Order: sequence, then C-alpha cells, then structure tokens
Amino acid sequence: MPKHTFLTGDRPTGRLHIGHFVGSLQNRVALQNSGDYNNFIMIADTQALTDNARNPEKIRNSLMEVALDYLAVGIDPTKSTILVQSGVPALAELTMYYLDLVSVARLNRNPTVKTEIKQKAFGESVPAGFLIYPVSQAADITAFKADTVPVGDDQEPMLEQTREIVRSFNHTYGKDVLVEPEGYFPPKGSGRLPGIDGNAKMSKSLNNGIYLADDADTVKQKIMSMYTDSNHIHVEDPGQVEGNVVFTYLDIFASDKAKVADLKAQYQYGGLGDVKLKRYLIDVMDGVLTPIRTRREAYAKDMAGVAQVLIDGTARANEVANQTLAEVRDAIGFNYFK
Ligand code: TRP
Repeated sequence: MPKHTFLTGDRPTGRLHIGHFVGSLQNRVALQNSGDYNNFIMIADTQALTDNARNPEKIRNSLMEVALDYLAVGIDPTKSTILVQSGVPALAELTMYYLDLVSVARLNRNPTVKTEIKQKAFGESVPAGFLIYPVSQAADITAFKADTVPVGDDQEPMLEQTREIVRSFNHTYGKDVLVEPEGYFPPKGSGRLPGIDGNAKMSKSLNNGIYLADDADTVKQKIMSMYTDSNHIHVEDPGQVEGNVVFTYLDIFASDKAKVADLKAQYQYGGLGDVKLKRYLIDVMDGVLTPIRTRREAYAKDMAGVAQVLIDGTARANEVANQTLAEVRDAIGFNYFK
C-alpha cells in the first residue's frame, strides 16, 4: 500500500503547453511511477468557471483536450485516478464549511489571486467565486487527504492557505480529520519556461506557447521564430546567452549538457548562427515531444475510451471524497440522523 497521496490538477481553459510539462506534469508522472503514491489528478472545471461563467463552452471544449494531454505525458489510468471536479459534489459542500473558517481579509491577501485579479481586469466586479477559489482548492486537496501536491511555484499560496484551513478545522472541531499538504515543486530555476517571444510567461493570449498537442512542423516553425539576441545579426557576431530563449530551453530540455556548454561558448565567441542553434533545439524538442505525440494520437483514436477513464476516475473520487465529507460532518456535529 502506498504511504502517500497526491492530489493535483489544472483548469481546463485550453491545451497544456511545455511550460506545464516542466512546471508540474513531469513531476506528477515521476511520482505516479514511483509507486509510493495513491494519485488523484483533477480537471478543475468548476475552478475554471470562476472567471468564465459566461462562456462555459471554453471549458467544455478544453476538458477532453486536457484529459488527452494527461494521458499523452504518461499519466496512466491504471495507476492514477483522473477525475472531473464538477462530478464530485462533496467538494462543493466542503468548500461551504471551510468558507466559515477564512476571513474576507485573508482571501484578499492571497498573492496569486491578487495578481490574477489585476491581470484579468475585473475592475470592481471580481466574482465572489473567483475570490474564494483557494478555499475550494483546499477542499479539493483535503477531500483526498493528500499530503503532497505537485504543482508549479505559483500555487504555493494555495497550499499555505490550505494548511491554515486544515489547522483551523482540526483545532476548531477538536479532531485531526484533515491532513496538511506540502507542495512538490520543480527544481529551482527550471520552473518557469518563457514564451518563444522571450516573455516571462507562456500564455494563450500572448500566442507564445509550444503546446503538447502541436505537430512537429508547428514546433519547428515556433522554434525558428524564437527570440535569441536582437544584436546577434551576423553569424560571426558574438552573441548573448543570457535571456536567449533558445539557450533557456536547451538548459532545461537537452540531456547533453557538455554540448550545450560548447554551444554557449561558441555563441558568445562568435561564429555560431541562430539557424544552426535552433536546428539543434528542434531535434531536442522532437525527442521530448515525439513520445507524447504518439501516445496522444493513440488515445485520440478512442475518445469514448478517454471519456470512460474520466467516468471511472470520477466515480472512484466520489467514494473517497464522500468518506472525508462524512468525517467532516461528524466532526462539526452535523450527524443528526445517524
Ligand atoms: N489552481 C490550479 C490551476 O490554476 C488548479 C487546481 C484546482 C489545483 N484545484 C487544485 C491544483 C488542487 C492542485 C490542487 O492550475
């Protein structure tokens, strides 16, 4: 029996990109394959709705894409439970109870939510559901008694808030029902992959991402258009390695570190052209993405089978979450009819 449990997930608002891959997907697959974990991977459609209430079709359309992305990177439905958040009603009820243990002031201080509120330009009309999504995320994590949450660095404030809720709940109701989770993050420095344009964030709105579902030609084109060094005009010019997106990607994805060091030296000295450098990155990314693409295509041939994975996973998830909910209601004393 595995000693640990992990629960993690993503909002289905588009396809997953290679930033998600280095930021968390890779870690999830590694934890899954270690055999030490009971695994739950959640497609967070309810959370995605908190800022998309008026276009749910965006979420509907992304749901199966994200499921395929999970399967493509090697999440194995015989080892992991893939579930759909809105299919587990206990999560909503847990959220309701936890909301009473959190102040509005505390919610307003969550740094990730604060940043998102600025980015999304809600103005005075922040949806209440959006402001409280960290509480619903605490419900997701605690419903499965997860001790580990493999996510990107931007999710640390969610874990901090979850731990506070867990402590508050266990203390208030005098029972250690809930488990405090730890984040499981990518190694320092590799967590954030810039967009192909050099922007610090890879995002759909900036159209600067490489998606796990992109075909080989698309990836090739994207790499050929990648930002390098705007002063590196002639092959013989010395070039900059810092801030050069091609080198940032090579540092993360190339396994031949000696070769990357060589290329850096050559580039800085002068005499290494961008096209040649980019061709090498194309090879490297092909090596990373080909197995993902192959698995994706195989699963995509049987979408009914993929849907069944979600149905089965969500059913299993309901059993676990309902059990936790029963314990929570018991601890509060909401067990009148027993
Ligand atoms: N907040 C995560 C994101 O934006 C998605 C998410 C929802 C999640 N519930 C979770 C992540 C629970 C980890 C654990 O991608």
